Amino acid sequence: MTIMFDRTPEGDIISDQHLIARVLSEALSYINYLKGKILVFKLGGSMLEHQQEVLQDIIWLHQLGALPVLVHGGGPYINEWLTKLNIPTRFLDGLRVTDAETLEVVRMVLRGQVNQRLVLMLSQMGGKAIGLCGTDGDMVQAHIADERLGYVGEVESVDPASIQGLLEQGFIPVIAPLGQGPDGTCLNINADLVAAHLAGALNAEKLIFLSNVIGICRADGTRISELSDAEARRLIDEGVISGGMIPKVSACLDALAAVPRVHIVDGREPHVLLRELCTDQGAGTMIIR
Ligand code: ARG
Repeated sequence: MTIMFDRTPEGDIISDQHLIARVLSEALSYINYLKGKILVFKLGGSMLEHQQEVLQDIIWLHQLGALPVLVHGGGPYINEWLTKLNIPTRFLDGLRVTDAETLEVVRMVLRGQVNQRLVLMLSQMGGKAIGLCGTDGDMVQAHIADERLGYVGEVESVDPASIQGLLEQGFIPVIAPLGQGPDGTCLNINADLVAAHLAGALNAEKLIFLSNVIGICRADGTRISELSDAEARRLIDEGVISGGMIPKVSACLDALAAVPRVHIVDGREPHVLLRELCTDQGAGTMIIR
């Protein structure tokens, strides 16, 4: 084996044997801390192409004693199917209007395609996963957000009992973001918000958003490694956090009421979850209360 040399911050030469020992001992303290802790992961729809390593990391974390719960989106696939099926998409202030026909497609894609595929992949990689949807067992109760947007729900409450039961039985629950409306209708809900509410109801230790952004960035595009909720609010006010990042960061801030730490990581980066959760430095942005 060739020995590569690296330097410590003090300039001392360290061999890769030392490096391995260092990495492992740093990771060990995080692994001990994560044992028995519930971690809610939100996988963005754009993530699904890069999911192999993400799912591998989640399975490892589970094997190490953490309790992962996955919530997924499916936006790009829903758009693809609406186009294939020639169903026109109407937008209102940038938000998709979900009529009855669109809702059928949303349900089919989320449950039948994205959810099943994630469960299958986890199983093939040796994980014990189970797929469910917010409407199963009345888990996610919702109301219509805005009549003009159609079947779009806002989360009212989340009953964590069924998920807790599944975690106790050693499962990795994989959840599609649909909710139960007041009269039993199915509603399409933003997956970031389902993940945030679920993390709160489960008393999760962490909520981790995986998408195709490197984290929260400064005006010059560099990533902010760690910030407080107050600092994140200030960056929104100052316009540094803008566009599509605002709803995501707002969901993070809402979640911080119930979850001590929220992380935003880029799921396209190799083993980003192990690096974020098991090193001091992390690999994304961590928001703390
Ligand atoms: N691994 C530690 C944790 O999960 C620290 C993560 C630091 N991450 C960061 N983006 N600064 O709490």
